Amino acid sequence: MDAKVSTLADTALAGLERLGQSAAECEFEPAVEGRLPPDLRGTLYRNGPGLFERGGARKRHLLDGDGYVQALALGDGAPRYRARFVATDKYRAEQAAGRYLYPTWSTRVPGNWLRNVGNRIRTQAGVAVVMRGGRLLAFDDAGQPWELDPDNLATLGEAVLDGSVRLPSYNAHSRIDGRNGDWILFGQTYGRHTTAHVAVVPRDGRGAVRYSVALGRSTYLHDFFVSGRHVVFLVHALDFAPFGMLAGLRSFIDSLSWQPRLGNLAIVVERASGREVGRFEAPPAFMWHALNAYDEGDAIVADFVGYDEPDHFIGDDAEFFAVMQGRQGVAAAPGTLRRYRIDLARRRLDETTLAGGYHEFPLTVPGANCQRHAVGYFTHGTRAGTNLHSAVRAIDFEHERDDCFDFGPHCHVGEAVPAGERAGRAAWLLCLVLDGAAGRTHVAVLDAARLADGPVARLDLGHAVPLSFHGCWRPA
Ligand SMILES: [Fe+2]
Repeated sequence: MDAKVSTLADTALAGLERLGQSAAECEFEPAVEGRLPPDLRGTLYRNGPGLFERGGARKRHLLDGDGYVQALALGDGAPRYRARFVATDKYRAEQAAGRYLYPTWSTRVPGNWLRNVGNRIRTQAGVAVVMRGGRLLAFDDAGQPWELDPDNLATLGEAVLDGSVRLPSYNAHSRIDGRNGDWILFGQTYGRHTTAHVAVVPRDGRGAVRYSVALGRSTYLHDFFVSGRHVVFLVHALDFAPFGMLAGLRSFIDSLSWQPRLGNLAIVVERASGREVGRFEAPPAFMWHALNAYDEGDAIVADFVGYDEPDHFIGDDAEFFAVMQGRQGVAAAPGTLRRYRIDLARRRLDETTLAGGYHEFPLTVPGANCQRHAVGYFTHGTRAGTNLHSAVRAIDFEHERDDCFDFGPHCHVGEAVPAGERAGRAAWLLCLVLDGAAGRTHVAVLDAARLADGPVARLDLGHAVPLSFHGCWRPA
């Protein structure tokens, strides 16, 4: 390929630049190398930013682009791959105009300053994708979710979730309880009082509840903890000062700052009612993603990937800004696997580190969500100084084992999505791998119990695809 790929940042940038509009929306039968497991029948959905440049203007941050949803159907006959942009109102208006019209969370609209005044950020529906009740829903950290046709990925429109508990906006991450199917969602509103809004929607939709939790600080949350009986908001030491953004002078991300003196605050409420149970102080740690949480007697166990500071995310030389300019930038603080044990009877929170080194995209099997989990799956960085990872790691908490496969120094690997479940563990893991040296992306299929053996099959997408964030597996 043309671009140099001496670092994973180069690989990531190559992924952005290789995705022209011609390759963006496509449908084809990918070539298979290896042998697809016969029991692997279903569809992998992925979502992540896919469009970073219009009319000569480029997004400033790796995590900022219009939603690009991919689907890989496996099972009957040949595998089928499809990819389409989520045709939000914003996306369609900007397609027609041929330029950016709205500010997004890292980038103000070029040109007229007035276009950036007030909160004009629109959803790009480009972070997560959830299957619920046969509906495929694309979420961002703002606005309402957007609904896609699960078969052909056509955008059906802004989704109306259960009307009685509709939230003013939704954040990207929600949880579906692995035991009873309750779907717990949250959204944030900013203002004089920053508030988290929660909806708990049973599988049959009946008896859904909604409540609000005052966060007490102005911050940005991306994920939360949900156990069988509790919801926990981790108000990390990330301060959001909105006034520069509202005046059109700063982007959302540039309005965030790390303030370790604030420490972390874990706010615990009853899941069913929203009644506050307690607020617990903890050392400062930034969290993108929770692995899972569960109740253990009078305690809550909450596992997450935490950073001593989010230096890869905010700051002028943060890796996720620098990559967009072809530089490596800073990502000195690794995402380590941490555990909070919140003892509600003794009113104390203890933090321990379960695994050092670079981790992200923690997932357990869907059946263990909100229950005690046996295992966690992660992307893993085997080289220090970058939050772009080349390996997949599984940590088995019951058997105290861990397993890892590294795709190599020029490969960026995305979230490993469990497909199928055996005794609380995944049967298979599916992940997109962007190979910077080859200039193309493939989907790797790994035996979740034998990661070190490497993929049992790879499905070649034939071109490079930008890094995607989150996905889900719909069994056939
Ligand atoms: Fe996320």
